Parts: sequence; C-alpha cells; structure tokens
Amino acid sequence: MSVNTEVDQYAVVGNPIHHSKSPKIHGEFAVLTGEKLEYSAIQAPIDDFSGTVHSFFGNGGKGLNVTVPFKEQAWSLSNELSDRARLAGAVNTLYSNEKGEICGENTDGVGLVRDLTINHKITLADKRILILGAGGAVRGVLLPILEQNPHSITIANRTVAKAEQLVELFTGRGELIACGFSDLDEPFDIIINGTSASLQGDLPPLSDGLVNDNTVTYDMMYAPDKTVFNRWAESLGAAQTFDGLGMLVEQAAESFYIWRKVRVDTQPVLAMLRAFD
Ligand code: ATR
Repeated sequence: MSVNTEVDQYAVVGNPIHHSKSPKIHGEFAVLTGEKLEYSAIQAPIDDFSGTVHSFFGNGGKGLNVTVPFKEQAWSLSNELSDRARLAGAVNTLYSNEKGEICGENTDGVGLVRDLTINHKITLADKRILILGAGGAVRGVLLPILEQNPHSITIANRTVAKAEQLVELFTGRGELIACGFSDLDEPFDIIINGTSASLQGDLPPLSDGLVNDNTVTYDMMYAPDKTVFNRWAESLGAAQTFDGLGMLVEQAAESFYIWRKVRVDTQPVLAMLRAFD
C-alpha cells in the first residue's frame, strides 16, 4: 500500500501579497489543530489571475484565499458559487470539489459577524445599524449581517447611487435604507465603517449626532493604533469601538473550516497578531 506523504497545499493569492497576514494566521491554525498542511503566499501577475489559480489546482493544491485585487475575478471564474458568494459578488475562498470544479465562497461577512457576536458579544438582532460605504467590501458582508435580523440597515455612501444599488440588490432580505452622509444625524446602535477612506487616514463627513454612549462602532480596517474612525467615535463617547483584525482572523478560520472541517480557537491567533503589531 502506498502512503501519500505529501502535505496538502494552500495559499493566498493577491497582488501585491507581501503584506498579507494570512500565511501567519493559517500557519498558526495548523499548529493549533495539528492539521498537516502548508500555506504560502502567491503573487499572481495582474493579467493572469486565472492562469495562477488553474495551475495551483492543476498541481494538486487544495484551497486558495483570494485578496485584493482579484476577489471579483475569483467570483467570475468559479464553476460553483454559494448563495452568499453569489450575492457578495466577490470570492475570498476557493476549493476544488470531487468533480474537479472550482468552487467559490465568501467568508468575509461571516468573519465580521462572528467577530462582533462571538468575540465581542454584540447582538445584531433588532439593532439599528449604519454601514458607511457601498463598495465591494460592504457588498461582501451584507448578507450575513442581514441574516442576524437587525431592525434596519442604513447604507450611507459618498456616491448615493451605489448605496441605492446595494439596497436594490438585497431587496426582500430585510429593512434597508440608502442615503448620503449629510442625510444622517440621529444616533445608531452600531456603526460599521466599510469605506476605504481610513486606508488614507480619512474620515467621511459625519455628523457628531450619529454617536451616543450606547453606540458600538466597528471599523473593517485595522491599525496598530485606533483607526481614525474609531478615534472619532471614541471622542464622542461611543460605548465600544472595535477594529477589523478580529474579522480578518475569523474569515480565515471560516475558510479553514471549509477546507479542513475543523473549527479552530481563534483567540490565541488574535492575541499573537495584536502582540506582533
Ligand atoms: P472596497 O473593495 O474596499 O469596498 P471600493 O469598491 O473601491 O473598495 O469601495 C470603496 C468605498 O469607500 C466606496 O464606498 C467609496 O465611496 P464612493 O462609492 O463614493 O467612491 C468609499 N470611499 C473611499 N474613499 C472615501 C472618502 N475619502 N470619503 C468617503 N468615502 C470614501
């Protein structure tokens, strides 16, 4: 009887990719769970993501994470999409099924919801939620948030038409409202920042009236120090402010679960990343 001693191969694909924390996170997951696997980082040529993916799976690779700027292309090349991924319009997790087809999943929204509800013990049900931004990152997380049955989700965006398109796309799945930033001045229970403004250290023009001492804020970005958005919320007396490092670890854990059918304790990994930053 021949024994297959080869180690299952996984990787994250992006361009650029050197900054990715995924190899470190999945490496730790493998150690914690005792799963035998290798996880590397692949920089795909900007014009040949598809070739990179097909050659990875063609060589026996088991699963890929996909990051900027390829999540939409991963969605397009998937032979099969989960409902979640289909609505997200983007895929961050690929695997090959028994027929050799490439299947796409999106674990970003589940990661965000698990971080909020499990790690931070924040209930989303019946809450008035404000989401800032209406780009790919927000579209990617909307369905899992709606599945928590919030009272309502208001999507505010600089380009209001994009918020309106998202509301239309998710029609029938919950109470959704589209608006611009200047239309807002009442406090919300939870405010999630999904704009890329904080990447440039910017803050959308927001009324101070959005935050009171019951408001919880969540920035999908993370920074070693507080993000600009969370500093703004804190200055207005927000009850709690969280960044997206937990979301990053939880979306990874969800991918790991899809590939290995093993749930990992994310807390030690999160603590390691916080200590490292
Ligand atoms: P991502 O994949 O990160 O969501 P994206 O699809 O380009 O990237 O979307 C970026 C989001 O951040 C959009 O909602 C964008 O607003 P517009 O749709 O009006 O462009 C928002 N955004 C980026 N920079 C911003 C800024 N300085 N102020 C407010 N919103 C900003």
